[in-house]
Amino acid sequence: MKLSVPGRVTGAAAMVVAALLTTSATADAAPARVAAAPDIPVAAVKAHLTQLQSIATANGGNRAHGRTGYKASLDYVKGKLDAAGFTTTIQQFTSSGSVGYNLIADWPGGDANQIVMAGSHLDSVTSGAGINDNGSGSAAVLETALAVSRAQYQPAKHLRFAWWGAEELGLVGSRYHVNNLSTANRAKISGYLNFDMIGSPNPGYFVYDDDPAIEKTFKDYFAGLGVATEIETEGDGRSDHAPFKSAGIPVGGLFTGASSTKSAAQAAKWGGTAGQSFDRCYHSSCDTTANINDTALDRNSDALAYAVWELSD
Ligand code: TRP
Ligand code: CA
Ligand code: ZN
Repeated sequence: MKLSVPGRVTGAAAMVVAALLTTSATADAAPARVAAAPDIPVAAVKAHLTQLQSIATANGGNRAHGRTGYKASLDYVKGKLDAAGFTTTIQQFTSSGSVGYNLIADWPGGDANQIVMAGSHLDSVTSGAGINDNGSGSAAVLETALAVSRAQYQPAKHLRFAWWGAEELGLVGSRYHVNNLSTANRAKISGYLNFDMIGSPNPGYFVYDDDPAIEKTFKDYFAGLGVATEIETEGDGRSDHAPFKSAGIPVGGLFTGASSTKSAAQAAKWGGTAGQSFDRCYHSSCDTTANINDTALDRNSDALAYAVWELSD
């Protein structure tokens, strides 16, 4: 529709124009439920990865538990969240003789008896910077939290974001967190969403097959993009959702693959290289900012935000 009248449109004419715009927008746009969540800017997610890479480079090349690069990573994330209005808490624990830290960020408001959580491990292995594993999940969860603040989103449920320490030593930080929740506080968590490796360079699109409602939320999002997904099977229980699941909390999450090999069928539907690992730099020194597929990082970041919005309303 072309509007030839310049300047202000007033009175009844304005109402007609508004009605026409509303109708055409509804007809052209994606379903309203998808439109409710913001599009997470992948450039902002990548800017966090650049910072995590710089932190690793300045701290002996890694961000591992017990090393200075871990605490510097935590301070970076905490600074962004504090500035955006979150209530942050550092939870300390000890593992292998070193102090470890979880970072918890609560968004004020919502029903305190219905908490939706999204989390990721912030530690790397000692052999590299850990940009796909797991700067990717950490940066996407951070940017989603910042999007909540930008939107001043006030969902019915309470939102909580978490960055776990010492995942690479055996899910230590997340297990410590769950073990230290009272029975009453565990029961308040409606769901925990986990993001560990979501920008693999030869990506697959894997959705955790745990809670059916959470799984459906992610699958609906990818269906809307026309991107096929598969159930995550590369070591079920190998990330921070496992302690939550063991405690009876509904869990879900996304994953783009680690050392497993992409099949010919998977390359046919997702592109990339058959016969090669999803992430050839898994737990290696080459897990740098070069080890990220931007399209996968973008889609998974947007799916993360979609699920946070949908599941908390
Ligand atoms: N958590 C593992 C790590 O950090 C990676 C991994 C392997 C994984 N299999 C998974 C993550 C399945 C999520 C789901 O090294
Ligand atoms: Ca996006
Ligand atoms: Zn790892």
